[in-house]
Amino acid sequence: MSDLAAAAAAVLRANDAGAWTKPSPAQYPHQWNWDSGFISLGWAQLDWARAAIEIQSMLRARWRDGMVPHVHYDPERLKGYFPGPDWWPLAQRQVLHPGQLTSGITNPPVLVVAALEVGLAQPDAGRRRRWWSTVYPDLRDFVAFFRDRRTLAGSPLPVMVHPWESGWDNSPRWDFLKAAGLKPSRPYERLDTVHVGAGQRPTGKDYDSFLALAELLEASRYEIAEYRRRSPFCVHDVLLDAIWHRAAGAVNRIAAELGERQPFAKAELDEYAAAFEEVHWDEAAGLYLDHDLVAGTRIEVPTAAGVAALAGAFQDPGRAARSRTTYARLSGAALELATTPPGQPGFEARRYWRGPVWINVNWLAARGLDRFAPAEAAELRRATLDLVARSGLAEYFDPLTGEGLGSDAFSWTAALTLELLSASK
Ligand code: DGY
Repeated sequence: MSDLAAAAAAVLRANDAGAWTKPSPAQYPHQWNWDSGFISLGWAQLDWARAAIEIQSMLRARWRDGMVPHVHYDPERLKGYFPGPDWWPLAQRQVLHPGQLTSGITNPPVLVVAALEVGLAQPDAGRRRRWWSTVYPDLRDFVAFFRDRRTLAGSPLPVMVHPWESGWDNSPRWDFLKAAGLKPSRPYERLDTVHVGAGQRPTGKDYDSFLALAELLEASRYEIAEYRRRSPFCVHDVLLDAIWHRAAGAVNRIAAELGERQPFAKAELDEYAAAFEEVHWDEAAGLYLDHDLVAGTRIEVPTAAGVAALAGAFQDPGRAARSRTTYARLSGAALELATTPPGQPGFEARRYWRGPVWINVNWLAARGLDRFAPAEAAELRRATLDLVARSGLAEYFDPLTGEGLGSDAFSWTAALTLELLSASK
């Protein structure tokens, strides 16, 4: 094992909480949904059974309607993280397995894509099928949740209800929300700036909006039509929408392997792909962008989400190639992929999702590029491995200097490093 692989394995082992992996040693003490998807791919390189458990423990947090929440709280560690389950009181009544503590929102269904890949990594076909058959109903229901509980009349694309759902909490693509000036009704104290400098985290105004939206979701009893009437934040997120399509394909593939009927019909997926092109492709920008349902307009903020979205692997190849070129041009000499191109309004090199390079974004983009530009995919993987070899297994990286930022010993950086090392063999 190389030094880098050994360091990455040591991070996963140190952050291992038993049935799930803390995203980092102190900053994030619970289980996060899309983190666990990425993390399981790293465990699959080290210990297949542990990878399987990572996914199962996340699915244990599922709601009766199929949603898998973005945070599955550890009751022993509630003091170390804000906001806890008390900010999502009605959510605690939605869980399928009584006693599980969860947030009230979800994440892009990377977990489903990971469940396909972890299964495929098991060489014993009997064991693989037995495992898939235990997780299959939850995976299917999670993907169906976006269609059945998160769409509004007139579009098959799901509505994203909170910046935390995207995982890109304070990206400039969500800056329009600041104009609404939301404030939660209760006072609160942040804990996220205890371990990481405030200059690398979202601002106070961001947190006011995040918490006020949590209150709006609770007041809407998690009913999408009701929330749409009350909230300034209802979007079609380009990355969530792309990952949904890939996740639906993953569920269909697992169903076929199990001899089950495929739950997502080809006609449904084709209609979805057409809606994606219609809503997200911006011809003038030459990029896939997000869409604000409240304003009824595209969000004209270029970010790497439009490139990572190629991981959906269904987009028009000409547009996919063009978005890659556009983004490289906008990013200039920055390291790949600056999540916001330097020089764009809202870019901040060191602040969380406002510019830094994130390893999961590069990993998704490389998966997308595999389809139509394999040499560029290989180059992006190589550049990503160079960055972690040089700067460590940090949470995110300054796109101008490469310096590691946020938490040290970040689990998905470690896990995807292991996956990238194995893909580059
Ligand atoms: C955090 O705590 O910063 C997370 O991104 C919210 O889920």
